[in-house]
Amino acid sequence: MAMPFIPKTRDTELLSPVVSNGHVSTKEDKLQIDIEAMLPITEGNGKPQPKLDSIISHYVQSLKQLNLRNLGYPCNQKFNYDKLAPLLNFHLNNAGDPFQGSSLSLNSTSFEVCLLDWFANLWEIEKNKYWGYVTTGGTEGNLHGILVGREQFPDGILYTSQDSHYSIFKIARMYRMQCVKVSSSDSGEINCDELKTLLLAHKDKPAIINLNIGTTMKGGVDDLDLVIEVLKECGFAHDRFYIHCDGALFGMMLPFIKEAPKITFKKPIGSIAISGHKFLGCPIPCGIVITRSQYMNALSRDVEYIASRDVTITGSRSGHAPIFLWYAIKRKGFVGLQNEVQNCIMNACHLQHRLRDAGIGAMLNKFSNIVVFERPLDEDFIRKWSLACMGNIAHVVVMQHVTTEILDSFVSEFLQKRSIWFQDGRFLPLCIADDVGSRHCACSRHNSMS
Ligand SMILES: Cc1ncc(COP(=O)(O)O)c(C=O)c1O
Repeated sequence: MAMPFIPKTRDTELLSPVVSNGHVSTKEDKLQIDIEAMLPITEGNGKPQPKLDSIISHYVQSLKQLNLRNLGYPCNQKFNYDKLAPLLNFHLNNAGDPFQGSSLSLNSTSFEVCLLDWFANLWEIEKNKYWGYVTTGGTEGNLHGILVGREQFPDGILYTSQDSHYSIFKIARMYRMQCVKVSSSDSGEINCDELKTLLLAHKDKPAIINLNIGTTMKGGVDDLDLVIEVLKECGFAHDRFYIHCDGALFGMMLPFIKEAPKITFKKPIGSIAISGHKFLGCPIPCGIVITRSQYMNALSRDVEYIASRDVTITGSRSGHAPIFLWYAIKRKGFVGLQNEVQNCIMNACHLQHRLRDAGIGAMLNKFSNIVVFERPLDEDFIRKWSLACMGNIAHVVVMQHVTTEILDSFVSEFLQKRSIWFQDGRFLPLCIADDVGSRHCACSRHNSMS
């Protein structure tokens, strides 16, 4: 397992006794060890190995225990796809362009197209004006959206905020694009003043802008309208820029909040990508990318072998993923999804209040379900609750499976642990003012938080 990352601002010498405290053995750890001992693939006699069923049932047991304590990553664990189990007896492969189908008839492109139509309607683009497909996740959607932008503007510069998901910087490296990193505010939003300066400094090159519709760590939403305004002020006409919206989690939440900023193809954006397994919930990683059909000719090649157009990042594509997503949306409908969004945000407010009432600094952006607070000092605690950490901060993403009861028990345990970590004054709560602003920090220097 990777060594814990120790934030720079901490005294590592002082900290080591806490971190190297030895791993506290729990019932779950024991289960994990039991399973791992059974996993090696050994040579059999050609017959199915007798313990296979028991390995899987042990594994399912351990997953059940872990499931409800996944607080740090935005995967909705509250779903039931039992009715789709018969589909696991088929290989379904949607290779090629979903709108053309392919010669591989075991496909689910009819589900995929209906699903894409629903998203096109959600993001306000007419049926005959959009193109899209079901991806392997948010990263592939970003790979595709930014590729479309780059094909429009081969010499374009990619602008993105420092708070962007790591996939964006990887994509810039993969495509060998010049990438200009823009600073962001305490809440995680792109700094539009700096963007303006940078755009003016590179006015000779077209701009490909990646906007975060919800940053990974803080849930900051870049201001699309302001960015469009800035582009205009800097003299970038519509044929000199391309905007890709990375909406991994919030792309599926903001459309259900009346007051939230509108992400729509009625504005001059080129593409939107989301992760399917995040808000919608799906046992397999997947996602959606939607773009304008006018861009697609530049990317596509006819492939005789599959009797379709090759226009996606991967070749073979899951035929199951579109059915899972279609099923989730068809069951819940707009109102069901809207209720889920409201619930998650309400529960996130509950967590923020519980932390603040206990004297722990915590930030929660508007329209967000991501609560940011000080990084816990104990790696076992971080691991137990699957917390995601970066430097001095950690976050909880309040998804559908996270109830107020779970949050309360998380806060109680956090408080109990803190009383141990800080009892003799050798350690102090970490300062998070540089990350989220002093008004959200309750360290000894900034404890004036109201
Ligand atoms: C803003 C953002 N973009 C992209 C991604 C990548 O999504 P995926 O893990 O589905 O590839 C994430 C994942 O957390 C994200 O938060």
